[in-house]
Amino acid sequence: MSTTKKRTKELETIAEQEAKAPVEAVGTAEVPAADETPAELTVEVKKKILFVASEAAPFIATGGLAEVIGSLSKALAKNDRFDVRVIIPLYQDIKKEFRKDFKFIGNIFVPLSWRNQYCGIFEYSVDNVTYYFVDNEYYFKRPGCYGYYDDGERFAFFCRSVMEILGFINFYPDVLHCHDWQAALAALYLKTIYCFRPEYQFIRAVFTIHNIEYQGKYSLDILEDLFGISYRFQYLVEYDRCINLMKGAIECCERFSTVSPTYAGEIKDPYYAHGLDQIVRRNEFKLCGILNGIDPDYYDPATDKSLFANYSADDLAPKAACKEELQRMLNLPVKADTPIIAMITRLVSHKGLDLVKEVIEQVLRQDVQFVILGTGDASYEAYFSELARRYQGKVATVITFNSDLSRKIYSGADLFLMPSKSEPCGLSQMIASRYGTVAIVRETGGLRDSITPYGAGGNGFTFHDYNAHDMLYVINEALGVYRKKDEWQALVKKAMRTDFSWATSAKYYEGLYLGMLK
Ligand code: GLC
Repeated sequence: MSTTKKRTKELETIAEQEAKAPVEAVGTAEVPAADETPAELTVEVKKKILFVASEAAPFIATGGLAEVIGSLSKALAKNDRFDVRVIIPLYQDIKKEFRKDFKFIGNIFVPLSWRNQYCGIFEYSVDNVTYYFVDNEYYFKRPGCYGYYDDGERFAFFCRSVMEILGFINFYPDVLHCHDWQAALAALYLKTIYCFRPEYQFIRAVFTIHNIEYQGKYSLDILEDLFGISYRFQYLVEYDRCINLMKGAIECCERFSTVSPTYAGEIKDPYYAHGLDQIVRRNEFKLCGILNGIDPDYYDPATDKSLFANYSADDLAPKAACKEELQRMLNLPVKADTPIIAMITRLVSHKGLDLVKEVIEQVLRQDVQFVILGTGDASYEAYFSELARRYQGKVATVITFNSDLSRKIYSGADLFLMPSKSEPCGLSQMIASRYGTVAIVRETGGLRDSITPYGAGGNGFTFHDYNAHDMLYVINEALGVYRKKDEWQALVKKAMRTDFSWATSAKYYEGLYLGMLK
């Protein structure tokens, strides 16, 4: 047979198969890696990916997780090999401006142990991503997302709803991608209950750890009654005589990942693993670390409407106006040549605030200004407020979280300090760099993977050990470079031009999914 005839025959067979199989059929055609097979030989059925998460920007956000869900799903959906959908709870705090466009597509009743609960389903599509929102007022009509006595039950209901909704919307994903402990039960329900049903049997699961500190731990005696998981499967979720949902997801997913390569290595170590290092090591063969990105359009100093002035790496001059207005706004003396060191952070210990407390007064002896924005532990809030009182005209402390002000700080400051004890990925160091504010970071997790030392031709300043004087040393090194105007400008441009977009990271996720589906 000639090559053309052979190819025609192949296409006919595929067309026949496709006509028989519903579009949802899993893996009727394998997707080869783009560079392996010439395009004309590739017949593709879109791979279906479902993100299960407890928050997603722009709808509802309490931290970095939401941004990752919003921007990674968008980046993946740019590849037309993927049908990307996201499912989150319909919290009270999701604003009307979004809700008004959500479409109610129906309701079901969800079994959870002896309960049978109402579940409304709303749908909304944006940037090629379809979002589903799980509605139940008893669980989600409350302020905020977390921190309730029944969070375990709330997210069990959410995860069980996810499994039931797949049937309702007739969308059985190739990959169920669960994020953090709140979504861990979706993977557990899949592997202990649903995989015995034909439509669910080929669904593969990935679990991504955004922060290993929060594991979802509960007393073992509620396994059946509250989580609806049979004691036959206790061995999967049990750890340290407790239910540990994160551990359960790690055990039962085909792959698990975390948000930077360095953190993937760190969580094998008891220093970082919050007790789970043994489990991580045992499952190491299915672990990978993929660095998060940021959405370069959402964080663009050339177009950002929150800024006092817009600028880019090619036209840096207006950044000076951002600094001047920021100083004015925060009641700091307007001085173009005084470097501003900024922190935008939750005020909690693992962000390295103890190091800052230790040496900040030595830093303040020099001609610098220090700006800190965030909320958190009362003791740090009090400490930094007091510091601002004692160093009026040098220190500005703003105890709140405000995205508009944070952008003004990212653009108006010169240096951005992030000395975390641990940092799975961290997005602020990338945002600051994109706004031309040079990062000073401790070499941990994603900080190490995104910021490289100036001395070695990199885009920022780094120190290795969790030690206040090592940090002080690099702060002084950075202040030294700041005073050499040409060198400083070149470094600012380098930071701004670093590629933090999702393009590269999304490729790794694509590889991860396709690898699992082979
Ligand atoms: C968590 C981590 C943070 C990471 C974010 C998104 O909030 O603490 O480091 O950037 O998740 O993955």
